[in-house]
Amino acid sequence: MDFNNTSDFVSGFWNMFVIGLVLVSILWCAWFLWIQGSVKFNPGEVTGHKWDETLEEYSNPLPNWWRWMFYLTVLFSLVYLALYPGLGNVSGSFGWTMRGQYDAEMKAAEAQYGPKFNQFLKQDVMTVAKNQEAKEMGGRLFQTYCAQCHGGDAGGTTSFPNLKDGDWLWGGTPEKIKETLVNGRMGIMTPMGTKPDMDGEQVKDVVHYVRSLSGLTADSARVQRGAELYPQACAACHQADGKGMQAAGYPNLTDKIWLHGSSEAKMIEIVTKGVQNQMPPFGEFLGEAKIHLLTAYVWGLGGGVPPEVAAPAAVEAPPADAPAAEAAPAAEQKQ
Ligand code: HEC
Ligand code: HEC
Repeated sequence: MDFNNTSDFVSGFWNMFVIGLVLVSILWCAWFLWIQGSVKFNPGEVTGHKWDETLEEYSNPLPNWWRWMFYLTVLFSLVYLALYPGLGNVSGSFGWTMRGQYDAEMKAAEAQYGPKFNQFLKQDVMTVAKNQEAKEMGGRLFQTYCAQCHGGDAGGTTSFPNLKDGDWLWGGTPEKIKETLVNGRMGIMTPMGTKPDMDGEQVKDVVHYVRSLSGLTADSARVQRGAELYPQACAACHQADGKGMQAAGYPNLTDKIWLHGSSEAKMIEIVTKGVQNQMPPFGEFLGEAKIHLLTAYVWGLGGGVPPEVAAPAAVEAPPADAPAAEAAPAAEQKQ
């Protein structure tokens, strides 16, 4: 929609029709008010109109204060329509538009919050996560853009992960969280419930094996048969030990945390039909500064993992005989 144009009329006829209708209605009000002045009244006498048995109409003129107020509202509407958009396509002499007001409000917000955002952008995620003001700003962003899927408390729900618990599909370091927010994520498990993959019984067997990995109820004969199927059917993604692989978003099947539910029926459905679970990308939409703040917010919810130590060499203690003055700048550099 183009907000710069004050209306969406495609044909001139409807434009003129609306302008005519509005002006005629206003002028009709004024005219009607005017002719009330020429009606003959007999103050104190009743007109003979009666309602509800006792409610009678007197022949009194309208009070003057009331008439003048009515004239003022007519005048107000004409002045308003001359200044602001309202008469069909006429934009009004103030040139006000919805888009213009929106832009102005965005600019004002940018002026108010911009410096804050930039100040946080210069700090690392863990420092920002500790800042009370950043937490509040991040919390507001989270409620606006994330809560509908992850819940207002970020606790998640079926198929939408909990972001507070230290269990990560894709990783909980500042870098990994930021990567998730910027590019989005797509958890894809291919369907395997049809021949030549596996038949229904085999699916059930391998599901029982997976259930046994985290102590869920499982049939021991099925577990045995499933253990033989697992290496070929599942280990490529969930790994031989079932612990998954964060680099590719393959979940850990041994940790008692289930994104999609722990019932046997649900697991059979997942193996049979597969899954496609998408976290939408936000990088372009929110921009660097808001992403940084949200990364810190999510990281600080309780499950954040410290960044990976980059270069082990920088952590090593300086040689015992190195002068202290030389060691100091090296220690600063790893920040
Ligand atoms: C339309 C729903 C939706 C919205 C909106 C959404 N997410 Fe997600 N998010 C998901 C889904 C689904 C996943 C799981 C993807 C998967 O299964 O691999 C996910 C995963 C994540 C992860 C990775 C969790 C892990 O364990 O590695 C993070 C972090 C995250 N979301 C943060 C956010 C933030 C912050 C916002 C707001 C900017 C947001 N999400 C908005 C649906 C959503
Ligand atoms: C191509 C890689 C791939 C293979 C092969 C694969 N999975 Fe998955 N599996 C995934 C991914 C990715 C997810 C997570 C989907 C999501 O993010 O929602 C998943 C999720 C699951 C879940 C749900 C986990 C939860 O927390 O709710 C179960 C159960 C599961 N897989 C079992 C299996 C079994 C059993 C096999 C072997 C028959 C198997 N998978 C083979 C990639 C795979």
